[in-house]
Amino acid sequence: MFVSIEQAIELLKKGEIVILPTETVYGLGGIATKEMAIEKIYEIKKRPKNNPLICHIGNLNTIYKFSFINKEEEKLLELFPGPLTLLLRKKNIPDIVTAGSEYCAFRMPNHPIFLEISQKIEEPIAAPSANPFGKISPTTEKMAFEYFGNQIPIVDGGKCQVGIESTVIRLLDHNTIEILRPGFFTKEFFIKKGYKVIEKLPSKEKNQKLLSPGLLAKHYAPNIPLVLFNQNYFKLLEKNNYKESLIQILESSYTNLKKENLKNKKIGFLIYGKIEISNEFIYNLSENSDLEEIAKNLFSFLKEMEKKFDYIFTFKTPDKGIGIAINDRLKRAAEFIVE
Ligand code: TXA
Ligand code: MG
Repeated sequence: MFVSIEQAIELLKKGEIVILPTETVYGLGGIATKEMAIEKIYEIKKRPKNNPLICHIGNLNTIYKFSFINKEEEKLLELFPGPLTLLLRKKNIPDIVTAGSEYCAFRMPNHPIFLEISQKIEEPIAAPSANPFGKISPTTEKMAFEYFGNQIPIVDGGKCQVGIESTVIRLLDHNTIEILRPGFFTKEFFIKKGYKVIEKLPSKEKNQKLLSPGLLAKHYAPNIPLVLFNQNYFKLLEKNNYKESLIQILESSYTNLKKENLKNKKIGFLIYGKIEISNEFIYNLSENSDLEEIAKNLFSFLKEMEKKFDYIFTFKTPDKGIGIAINDRLKRAAEFIVE
């Protein structure tokens, strides 16, 4: 069910949860100080309780009220509102929100509807991405509705402009930033600002205690297997027999797949760039190979494709700018990676 901004505010104040648009992905929101609302978020999402939630704010006063921010961390607030999440020592935030951690992740989404709602509420809104645990994050009101439309009210904010989740960081000392989850704000961006940058790599271990469980190796997966090819193989798309060629290359890396008889499967190709071929199996994320456009379309295209095909074949993007975050999400979604 879709609701208005005013209805959403009323529901949130009553301790209900509501799906809200942000510029990255839709969030499943509840007021952070209302523990019942937070319980509901974990339950609906089937999210393990050891995976903490981001607290979203609408103005900087809320940061001072709910964290012990220091002068150096304060400098990073110039990037708010935007697709950035900053870990800070928490104040008055219940343990259930942060999975027991003394640190809370804060973010101010750059979305007029979200800002209006959270400014009127004046308390942090805890919100994970509005997808069942492990599934692709919703970037359109339609995707959010497909996941939870029968159970949770949704505020329609149209298609998310950024399309992948925020960069999660913390400041280790006055000029060292640790990136806990890659996103729109890249390593290069912070280096240009004069910071040293440390990156956490995706963890292969599923059950170890993680500082940021968003780093789990497989996390954002469609319902069907996704095969991620290195960019070198992109040129095969210029040939008529691209499907057979790519299957052959895949099978030479994963010999077990031979018995799957891939030639008879419906394979959807998720590509980008100016490619001559066009048919119902080809989904083009961005004809201009524009990385921001690729990020914006990625999750909604994956969702469409999982309904139509048995397999998705796709390609890495260049490892620069937001391409790093796109490749990170693709690797986590992939069942097979062909280098
Ligand atoms: O763009 C986004 O960040 C979206 C929108 C809705 O704001 N939210 C989002 O939330 O992606 P979620 O819950 O799907 O991912 C939050 C990430 C997880 O990797 C989580 O482990 C990490 O942030 N995180 C949250 N609180 C943390 C904390 N206190 N310490 C360490 N990591 C934390
Ligand atoms: Mg998520």
